[in-house]
Amino acid sequence: METTPPTRIMFVCLGNICRSPAAQAVMQKLVQDHGVSERFQIDSSGTAGYHIGSLPDARMIAAGAKRGIPMTSHAKKLVADHLSQRDLVIAMDRENLANIQRLSNGKTANVKLLSDFLDQSWPRDVPDPYYGEEDGFEYVLDMLEAACPAILKNSLESPPQD
Ligand code: 4NP
Repeated sequence: METTPPTRIMFVCLGNICRSPAAQAVMQKLVQDHGVSERFQIDSSGTAGYHIGSLPDARMIAAGAKRGIPMTSHAKKLVADHLSQRDLVIAMDRENLANIQRLSNGKTANVKLLSDFLDQSWPRDVPDPYYGEEDGFEYVLDMLEAACPAILKNSLESPPQD
């Protein structure tokens, strides 16, 4: 029997303790809720290595818990091999995107901005909540919960080619 390979998605931010682990968690819950988790491999990383090994920021874990979204990933730093080993790489902001493109050096990762999956009522960049107020974490989750259904739909419509 033929099996479709899983779609490998990596979300990328700067520190991998606020926005991208939250994106990973929102997307993981979504694929589970849709009964398609075996068709996806979802992870996240940061372009900087400040927090390698750390759980997400406690404020982001708390904001996620209020919505029933558990966050248990440990931060890792993005390396070039990740890019060639993912079907879709989704940057949280344009600075992350520029850093990914610099690192990819012509490798064929399919790199998008999170806001490519949103309508124009949302900002281009997912705002970095790290130095801001509590409501910044809620806003990040609002943005992620708006974008992830479109990521799921696109991925199910065009699964990776062998
Ligand atoms: P993230 O947020 O990129 O959404 O994980 C940040 C986390 C930590 C730092 C900056 C942004 N930092 O400078 O340590």
